Amino acid sequence: MFRLDNKIALITGGGRGLGRAIALAFADAGAHVAVASRTREQLDEVAEAIRAKGRRALAVEADVSDSASVAQMVVATRREFGRVDILVNSAGVGWAEKLADTSDETWEWIIKTNLYGVFYCCRDVMRVMIEQKSGNIINLASVAGVKGPPGLGAYAASKGGVIAMTKVLALENARYNVRVNAIAPGYFRTDLNAAALDDPELGPKIVKRIPMRRAGKPEEIGGLAVYLASDDASFVTGEVYFITGGEMAQ
Ligand SMILES: NC(=O)c1ccc[n+]([C@@H]2O[C@H](COP(=O)([O-])OP(=O)(O)OC[C@H]3O[C@@H](n4cnc5c(N)ncnc54)[C@H](OP(=O)(O)O)[C@@H]3O)[C@@H](O)[C@H]2O)c1
Repeated sequence: MFRLDNKIALITGGGRGLGRAIALAFADAGAHVAVASRTREQLDEVAEAIRAKGRRALAVEADVSDSASVAQMVVATRREFGRVDILVNSAGVGWAEKLADTSDETWEWIIKTNLYGVFYCCRDVMRVMIEQKSGNIINLASVAGVKGPPGLGAYAASKGGVIAMTKVLALENARYNVRVNAIAPGYFRTDLNAAALDDPELGPKIVKRIPMRRAGKPEEIGGLAVYLASDDASFVTGEVYFITGGEMAQ
């Protein structure tokens, strides 16, 4: 069970953090993987690690907030592998600021990356999947997308949008044999929040809110992503899976 043998996966934000962990878990499960982000060295490192597991890999430089760049990313992936079976949208950015203090530029940066980015990638890959009459999309949302975390307004708005978009895409495309789900993590230790977790005042407060009293490790997300991408989840679509160390139960 939970195999992805010879499936072709495209993972945005695959150069580090949760996207990197999912890319490696997919390779372990038998998938060939294209990883995309803006940092070539990180992509090359992950691609090498995937090849070391005996799978094919492609490193694609792309900016998900730019629709032309996303279109090129999809073309490059199809040119290399001929199809796209799985899309994981993990590219994302975060910023902590009260909404009353948020500038137009910050709002645009967060929404453009986290919401437009997921839209561009889902739209372009969905067209491929409709043609293939099969496919599977996993969007990285966040607990912030369903709660109202003070100081994370732009981020929460972007992730709430991702959750809504996930459900719409699932319903619009169920008849094409394409499944669309979201993973909504709590705190995982990555570059996204290392500064907050390591802050001597803020860090302990964050950890105290997590019933397991620790942040997740990136490798703790791979199993859920592999399950959702696998045929063992063939009846699962339009769902949001929380993975929070108990935070979501409070
Ligand atoms: N870590 C957590 O606790 C947590 C919690 C809830 C949700 N999430 C979500 O999970 C996803 C992954 O987060 P993470 O923790 O792995 O963060 P991370 O370690 O900072 O990685 C983010 C990835 O996104 C890429 N990226 C950012 N902007 C991009 C753009 N415009 N175009 C292409 N790639 C871009 C980054 O690469 P470049 O900068 O090189 O482009 C990097 O590979 C995000 O959507 C995040 O919101 C994370």
